Amino acid sequence: MKLVVRNDDRAVAALTARLVADLLKARPDCVLGLATGRTMERVYDALVEIGHAEALDFSRCRTFNLDEYIGLPPGSAHSYRAYMNDHLFSRIAIPLENTMLPDGSAADLAAEAARYEDAIRRAGGIDLQLVGIGETGHIGFNEPLSSFTSRTRDITLAPGTRRQNAVLFDGDIDAVPRRALTMGVGTILEARRVVLVATGAAKAGILAQAVEGPVTPMISATALHFHPDSLAIVDEDAAPHLKHREYYDSVFATDPEFASFNA
Ligand code: GLP
Repeated sequence: MKLVVRNDDRAVAALTARLVADLLKARPDCVLGLATGRTMERVYDALVEIGHAEALDFSRCRTFNLDEYIGLPPGSAHSYRAYMNDHLFSRIAIPLENTMLPDGSAADLAAEAARYEDAIRRAGGIDLQLVGIGETGHIGFNEPLSSFTSRTRDITLAPGTRRQNAVLFDGDIDAVPRRALTMGVGTILEARRVVLVATGAAKAGILAQAVEGPVTPMISATALHFHPDSLAIVDEDAAPHLKHREYYDSVFATDPEFASFNA
């Protein structure tokens, strides 16, 4: 894993969007793994901005989202499909049929999970997977005790996750679904690159545990230590508890991957 600390959430979003944009330029038919949450809103704003400024071609890329709620009414504005349409897909020229999310309204959830895994496989796997981190340490909706070999499946959301996400349901925790379909930790680890994005003081404690604490299925983000190419991009507010900050800063200053950001 590499870890980069930027000044604020805007700089985090700019760097993350730049990595996605560079991949798209190099491989217009790449497969992107996308995530939801407030953190990603800024990332998508930055990507839309770069897209316009640099005439990025999204027409041939395909996207797979990490997760979707189960049991929302059809067409719900709170679904992750609605989130993705609002924050990204309606703002760039991507054919909607190239954008995939698990279907949380499927009658047979196990069959839907298997279909989603198969679709990722048939697309050739995910080139770059964006993940946020929940306050329980989840990536996707892989709550505590998720096996590191888990695949896409339905899961019960932790009470803390439902409280955290209630903001997106007008503060009404009872409106937050109790279950979701999520890529598994094993699914995420198969992406060729995983980029974890964390901003804000609320993430400081869990980020330090996820990055510098012991590897444990209690915190699914710690599984990223098993990935050969994972990168965490975080802001100062999320970084105060990191012990090896001096080292991380020296990586950012010297690693050729980040040379253009230090120019
Ligand atoms: C939801 C998503 C997670 C995401 C988390 C972070 O729980 N399922 O994939 O990591 O939100 O949310 P936020 O960025 O709003 O803190």
